[in-house]
Amino acid sequence: MKENRIYNFNAGPAALPLEVLEEIKDSFLNFGGSGMSITEISHRSTLFDNVINDAIARTRRLLKLDDRFHVLFIQGGASLQFCMIPLNLLKEGDSADYVNTGTWATKAIKEAEILGKTINIVASSEDKNFSYIPKKMSFNRDAVYTHITSNNTIKGTQWPFYPETGGIPLVADMSSDFMSRPFDVDKFGLIYAGAQKNIGPAGVCMVIIRDDMLERVPDTLPSMLKYTTYASKNSMFNTPPCFAIYMVQLVMKWLEESVGGLEKMARMNQTKARTLYEAIDSSDFYQGTAETDSRSLMNVTFRLPDETLEKQFVEQALKNGMGGLKGHRSVGGCRASIYNATQLAAIEALVDFMKHFEQKNG
Ligand SMILES: Cc1ncc(COP(=O)(O)O)c(C=O)c1O
Repeated sequence: MKENRIYNFNAGPAALPLEVLEEIKDSFLNFGGSGMSITEISHRSTLFDNVINDAIARTRRLLKLDDRFHVLFIQGGASLQFCMIPLNLLKEGDSADYVNTGTWATKAIKEAEILGKTINIVASSEDKNFSYIPKKMSFNRDAVYTHITSNNTIKGTQWPFYPETGGIPLVADMSSDFMSRPFDVDKFGLIYAGAQKNIGPAGVCMVIIRDDMLERVPDTLPSMLKYTTYASKNSMFNTPPCFAIYMVQLVMKWLEESVGGLEKMARMNQTKARTLYEAIDSSDFYQGTAETDSRSLMNVTFRLPDETLEKQFVEQALKNGMGGLKGHRSVGGCRASIYNATQLAAIEALVDFMKHFEQKNG
């Protein structure tokens, strides 16, 4: 661990690759020999064009996107997408299927309902406090899209593989597992991810949209709410969040050049998650909250015998250089978020600490 830094298990904003943070530090006052910081240059400059185009090109290579897909940068977080998606894709008389797997999916459904759109909840895991990913569901043949939340940050569940919808395009909130594993893009009409977990800082959301979805966008929407505006202007209709996009570019570079692509990233993430779940499963003191076959490789949620111990666990972990282990305020318990940038060494240190804590308090 680098001096003055802790092992960061925050759920988002979350740990970023040290290599990326150091590159930003080194280039901060004089970006690309310009004598200015990235936060001071024009978004209309060649320097910034190179940044955004490189971020897009690397995203395309990492996900093997073909020409049908457009990579956009939009502000307003993943939460704005909850409303932009139905607004852009559903016309009068259209409907969409939604699978409800937790807090964020519920919010996505709510926003579509506020807009008065026709939404069918085709499956939900609410009956068991969202502790699993539903297996049985039947999709409506005339749905424009099926919305899923790829990874449920709060409840600690993740789709182990994506559902077969019989050709209906998937629209996926990948905020908390984007770029953590490879997947077949063919199934998707739209993918979105708030940057602040796996690909950068808060302030930008990446949206990947397919041509046929873009064709659905009505002319009547305000410019800033239309995907077509972002697609036709390379995400620069207005001033984009330049610094956030620059960080995304560096994270994509790290993924390609230091990690070596998404297959390798996925293997590392599996090893990390296995190490932590094995520690939980081998003890009666710690209890995982998600059903085994739905467990997230990104957010590992667990409980201790009582809330007093949980509070002590989080406090003592921090004293030992491990931060961000408190569960989401809506569910309590503990959560270790182990995104791409969290190294195996951090998980090994946590497992060591868990064993010591159990010996003292179990
Ligand atoms: C899966 C998921 N979707 C959406 C959001 C909301 O993202 P934002 O804060 O960027 O609107 C979060 C935030 O934690 C999330 O984890």
